[in-house]
Amino acid sequence: MKIAVDGPAGAGKSTVARLVAERLGLRYLDTGAMYRALTLEALRRGVDTSDENALMEVATSIDLNIVFQGDKGNVIYLGGEDVTGLIRQPDVTAHVSEVSSHRKVREFIVALQDQIGRQGSVVMDGRDIGTVVMPDADWKIFLQATVEERARRRQAELLRRGVSVDIEEIQEQIRARDYLDSTRDNSPLRKAKDAVEIDTTSLTIEEVVDKVLGLIRGEEQDVQHSGGNY
Ligand code: DC
Repeated sequence: MKIAVDGPAGAGKSTVARLVAERLGLRYLDTGAMYRALTLEALRRGVDTSDENALMEVATSIDLNIVFQGDKGNVIYLGGEDVTGLIRQPDVTAHVSEVSSHRKVREFIVALQDQIGRQGSVVMDGRDIGTVVMPDADWKIFLQATVEERARRRQAELLRRGVSVDIEEIQEQIRARDYLDSTRDNSPLRKAKDAVEIDTTSLTIEEVVDKVLGLIRGEEQDVQHSGGNY
């Protein structure tokens, strides 16, 4: 079974996708982490993130390894180093949308995702999973939430890590990333025609996970469904 979970930054994709995978005993792939690992290495090498060819040199020379670790989600190794925490750093977040906007970079990363998809059942979260990476997914979920709520979640997450950032600043960053991700020429963030949209603004993570599982098990009546054949 293949499940695609797409949506903008902060809509809850990664947590929901990981928990759904865990409950169903499937593998989980955080595709954003792959673009983030490439961005981290490009920044470390001082590569200009607007230079597509220079980024491709980085992409083709890194040793990226993703380990599926149940409730811990994905552990990301770059040349043997665990960079799972480092790829969430603010300067990686600030550059990753630009890195992921290049056509050659996307083709390279999507080919890796495609290989993982072909190895068996999986839940993948990202921006183009239902439209490009797994257009044949059994289930396509598109998670949405207001910018205000996404910023509030992000602020709470940063506070848990001891970082205090003004909510307006976070909203601005989210708007900027939404804009870049949805207006880029190459596979922009877009809801697949046959995806089920869930607005997570006033829902807890557990409620969203239950909705997705209910949908897959055929118990959910109140969301528009088009396409699953599990
Ligand atoms: O989900 P995330 O915030 O970790 O994703 C980081 C960036 O990577 C995001 O701004 C857009 C890009 N991305 C993408 O273009 N396609 C994906 N499938 C996943 C992420």
